[in-house]
Amino acid sequence: MSTSFVPPSRRVLIDCVRSAVTAPSLHNSQPWLFRIDGPAVEVYADHGRLLRVVDPEGREQMISVGAAVFTLRVAVRRSGYQTRVQLLPSSDDPALVARVSAARPARLDKVTEALAAAIPHRHTNRGPFAQVPVPRQALSRLRDAAAQEGAILRVAEGESRDAVLEMARTADRWLRERPEYAREMRRWTGETYHDGVPTWAAGPWDALGVIPVRDFSRLPRLLRPSEPYEPHPTILVLVTEGDTRLDWLRAGQALQRVLLTATWLGLAATPISQPVEVPTVRRILTGTPALPVQIVLRIGYGRTTGRTPRRAVTEVLMPDGPSDPATSGPEEPSVGVERTR
Ligand SMILES: Cc1cc2nc3c(=O)[nH]c(=O)nc-3n(C[C@H](O)[C@H](O)[C@H](O)COP(=O)(O)O)c2cc1C
Repeated sequence: MSTSFVPPSRRVLIDCVRSAVTAPSLHNSQPWLFRIDGPAVEVYADHGRLLRVVDPEGREQMISVGAAVFTLRVAVRRSGYQTRVQLLPSSDDPALVARVSAARPARLDKVTEALAAAIPHRHTNRGPFAQVPVPRQALSRLRDAAAQEGAILRVAEGESRDAVLEMARTADRWLRERPEYAREMRRWTGETYHDGVPTWAAGPWDALGVIPVRDFSRLPRLLRPSEPYEPHPTILVLVTEGDTRLDWLRAGQALQRVLLTATWLGLAATPISQPVEVPTVRRILTGTPALPVQIVLRIGYGRTTGRTPRRAVTEVLMPDGPSDPATSGPEEPSVGVERTR
């Protein structure tokens, strides 16, 4: 039997990129670019798409790109190959965030199949969720998903949940008081075509004022339709051990693994990142011993929601090129979508 390696075609890799761009990103900024290089896809952060007001350090940008990297890994794995992943492979080019290579052919496993099937169905859901508790077993699956990508997912319950929500409401208020925040929001909302959050995706406002869903509606608060949301939401907090670019990238991969697993389990999710965008609030939320909080999530059973726009693949694909000889950064020790650390 021949064991020669037939790499995926360019067309297959372009399809993988098409999957990758469905990943969630801060305000649907889609801050990524891709380059196909032989059997590998390089993923770049697009600095021109940084949200300077809420994300001056680029932390949420790296989380967004990390979510795209995870989606790419799943897509390459689904196309029948093991994956080899190098994160931040070039010290000369900080914009190069990851290199995902197709390695030897491998049979599709059930987990990859389910995660891949969830990719087109994962959407942010900002509407009210049913007053039905999320089963413990589902929460434990989500925690495992985060752990597989090197992050920790905490379930905030009781007083701790109330405290997280209180901090999120405070941060939301502080942000809305800043004129530059409103300007940045306007750039990324409204009648969007290929990026940004369209008005229909904004959802209503929580009539009980419990859940600080970020206001993408462009409407004055009093004119915004409101509905009662679940009074006791299920709140998850994603934390990492460190707070470097590599940790943010891992957090993004963990976020997307959690979101795709949630979709697989029939759960809807809303990222809530206002509390990590106000440094003092993020510090309090992180607490001691310090495990930096990367994002807060609300999950539950929601109504169906739609698909937000994406830029065409041609807009995010850079010309094919030979790999830069400097791209010899640390390789993730294991292959496949099953695990990258
Ligand atoms: C790092 C990050 C932060 C986000 N923060 C919020 C948020 O605070 N509020 C919110 O409603 N959605 C948030 N989102 C979701 C994005 O707005 C959403 O992914 C984007 O609009 C694309 O829509 P989709 O997720 O339905 O594909 C966040 C997503 C990421 C990756």
